[in-house]
Amino acid sequence: MKKYKIAVIPGDGVGVEVINEGLKVLNTIRDVHGGIDFEFKTFPWSCEYYLKTGKMMPEDGIKILRDFEAIYLGAVGFPGVPDHVSLWGLLLPIRKEFNQYINLRPVKLLKGIKGPLRNEKIDFIVVRENVEGEYSGTGGRINQGTEDEVAIQTSIFTKKGTERVMKYAFEIALKRNKNLISATKSNALNYSMVFWDEVFNKLKNNYPEVETRIMHVDALSGYFLLHPENIDVVVASNLFGDILTDLGSAMQGSIGIAPGANINPEKKYPSMFEPVHGSAPDVAGKGIANPIGAIWTASMMLEHLGESDSAKLIMEAMEKVTEEGKYLTKDIGGNAKTNEVGDAINEKIKELVKKGW
Ligand code: NAI
Ligand code: MG
Repeated sequence: MKKYKIAVIPGDGVGVEVINEGLKVLNTIRDVHGGIDFEFKTFPWSCEYYLKTGKMMPEDGIKILRDFEAIYLGAVGFPGVPDHVSLWGLLLPIRKEFNQYINLRPVKLLKGIKGPLRNEKIDFIVVRENVEGEYSGTGGRINQGTEDEVAIQTSIFTKKGTERVMKYAFEIALKRNKNLISATKSNALNYSMVFWDEVFNKLKNNYPEVETRIMHVDALSGYFLLHPENIDVVVASNLFGDILTDLGSAMQGSIGIAPGANINPEKKYPSMFEPVHGSAPDVAGKGIANPIGAIWTASMMLEHLGESDSAKLIMEAMEKVTEEGKYLTKDIGGNAKTNEVGDAINEKIKELVKKGW
């Protein structure tokens, strides 16, 4: 029996609601599938915690999390605490300190879900650089509040950081349909993105089986909408990947569906699994948040932990539920509550196992 130690940070708003459903599904997997157990420890780190303590997580938060095999996170951010405080107080330090330099975001239109596009052949994955680039946190402000105010935000692209994310994307492309698009903007960003393209062009020689294309990120966003059927794997910098994947999540029918994983591929540190969406204050507390993104994210966590079979079981159950269409939340045209969707997926898992999965 393998037992995994998982740190759970539900965070704020709908984060708490959807993580609840994800945990239910993981517990069902433990109960019906055998061979796996979890030791969950929940941490209250959030904006609420910040308002009480002045910090998003305790001083030794990173040290505490170091002992876990994975981190399962909902979302942080809530009105009353500036977004850059919640992000830089918790999420970004975890990504950086644990060198989770890969952010994996699959974009797939699940069966039964109506996307906004005419073309519904949508099944690709975005590999986003996750610790440097435009979100390096380097810069400064001077003369604040005066007419001479200046703000500088510096992007940092290292050779090591650029190569490793691209290699990872090439490796994924090899396992999929051998097609990789690199998002650039080297026409305007004449240092960082010219460098990005150079690294890409050099690396692609090592992967002759992979068909490659370099596209400016603005043109690529249009391509997402018009020709998703031609997209297999996309590699992008931190900022570009962030924006492209919110677009990707809309292509999936709702941001509430989109999953995400912050990976430290060497497994030297814990990886963190969180849905793409935020705390959604506009729907929080109503019990109508879509838990699918968080549940799909839990499946990605199991895949990372090496529990591929259980990960697939969750995906199968989830997609059966969306295909049947009876339990869908409001954002995707249904009227089921968050917990009803979670329960339906749990029941489906049990049913599949009974049928001999
Ligand atoms: P958001 O993702 O929270 O919401 C965008 C829209 O999608 C809203 O209309 C919301 O109702 C809807 N939505 C989001 N998740 C949903 C779900 N599970 N089911 C149904 N509908 C859902 O992004 P927004 O509004 O930009 O940010 C809200 C707060 O979340 C901010 O404080 C922001 O900083 C934070 N945030 C945190 C993230 C994280 O922790 N990883 C990521 C993005 C935003
Ligand atoms: Mg985002």
